[in-house]
Amino acid sequence: MKVLVIGPGGREHAIVRSLLSDPYVREVHAAPGNAGIAQLVDTHTIAADDPVAVTELAQRLESDLVVIGPEAPLVAGVADALREAGIAVFGPGRAAAELEGSKAFAKQVMAAANVPTAMCRVATTPGEVAEALDAFGAPHVVKDDGLAAGKGVVVTASRDEALSHAQGCFDAGGSVVIEEFMEGPEVSLFAICDGRKAVPMVPAQDFKRIYDDDAGPNTGGMGAYTPLPWLPAGFTDEVMDRVVRPVIDEMAGRGTPFVGVLYCGLALTTRGVRVIEFNVRFGDPETQAVLARLKTPLGALMMNAAKGELDTHEQLTWSSKSAVAVVVAAGNYPDSPRKGDPITGLDEAEASEGVHVIHAGTKLEEGRIVSSGGRVLTVVGLGRDLEQARERVYDGVRQVRLEGSQYRTDIAALAARGEVTPPPLRTGALPVIGAES
Ligand code: AMP
Ligand code: GLY
Repeated sequence: MKVLVIGPGGREHAIVRSLLSDPYVREVHAAPGNAGIAQLVDTHTIAADDPVAVTELAQRLESDLVVIGPEAPLVAGVADALREAGIAVFGPGRAAAELEGSKAFAKQVMAAANVPTAMCRVATTPGEVAEALDAFGAPHVVKDDGLAAGKGVVVTASRDEALSHAQGCFDAGGSVVIEEFMEGPEVSLFAICDGRKAVPMVPAQDFKRIYDDDAGPNTGGMGAYTPLPWLPAGFTDEVMDRVVRPVIDEMAGRGTPFVGVLYCGLALTTRGVRVIEFNVRFGDPETQAVLARLKTPLGALMMNAAKGELDTHEQLTWSSKSAVAVVVAAGNYPDSPRKGDPITGLDEAEASEGVHVIHAGTKLEEGRIVSSGGRVLTVVGLGRDLEQARERVYDGVRQVRLEGSQYRTDIAALAARGEVTPPPLRTGALPVIGAES
């Protein structure tokens, strides 16, 4: 089959790389792609969130399947336009993409489907914000209701900071969701969904803060690893039973079936597993780590999901190796990343054993690869365990030359040392996933 991948980032480079190793895939195109994707397949310069432009391109290329990577085109209805034109799409339509597009909508769906999550209130005035902050107490969690590229959430002990973040969202014309604070390690789980059925991928952990030891502001994600040796047995099955299937059923019942990746952002709390958020697409950089271990042909899997024909009896197959992904970000990311600097050392990095490099914010300029975004590259290391994968990935990262760049040195470090422990379940909580007490 011929596949068109929409999006510009590291996630899309990792998807393209996996598709190229799928024997069922004959040709891959990408739009707009980046410098790394352009080394592998033909790229096309279009506005990725323009439904008409994407549909025209897919028709011209005679694509059998379109894979939509980022949330913005999904929320803009690109998948709907493609389906109307009779083209198979991996990605939800506009209505189902609201699971990510509106945090308030996601909370309504979770309430209807009885999915465990933080208690919350939606606020549209400063008075409602103040009341909700007092009701839940500190630390305060204030979320922009709409899409904010990973920067819409503020978790803070400071009431003033919480109030001013909410005010910023109101000034931009939005509303906010205020939540109770949930404490515990976070897990990202991707479920591949065909509208009625779902199969899980392997859990991964993301590192959202910019600096080591989870210091500094939130980013889109600075690194990831898989597997998670510290997870309780039965974790994935429980999440499928208590979160993914109820949400899929709820969305199908509303007449807006969910096709694509349901990304469950989860916290392991003393009351069991709780949903932090849903995304309606693969996570970045978790995808770079997860797909590095996937053995099942990705294109065939996505096509089956797009056609509503997922085989849920067959498990996906995975390499037993561990994968650690480390993001190399531009100087001054996440505020105002510097751009346009030359990047060298990529061949040397890829020559390191068990290492490959995924591009995100890169472009070709006069024959040179230069930085063009906040998260510039993800280096991925595979090894027999997390410790070896860590050694390898950082060997690769040290080869990369990009002036002013920054990366975290502690990706997967605690897990490799066996120092991540889910908090003990409070008495009365159900095993693994606890009910509100
Ligand atoms: P989100 O965009 O909803 O994933 O939030 C970004 C990050 O903020 C999450 O990965 C968590 O680290 C943190 N966060 C979000 N909601 C909560 C919550 N209710 N309690 C504690 N931390 C949270
Ligand atoms: N890594 C977090 C995300 O993709 O939203």
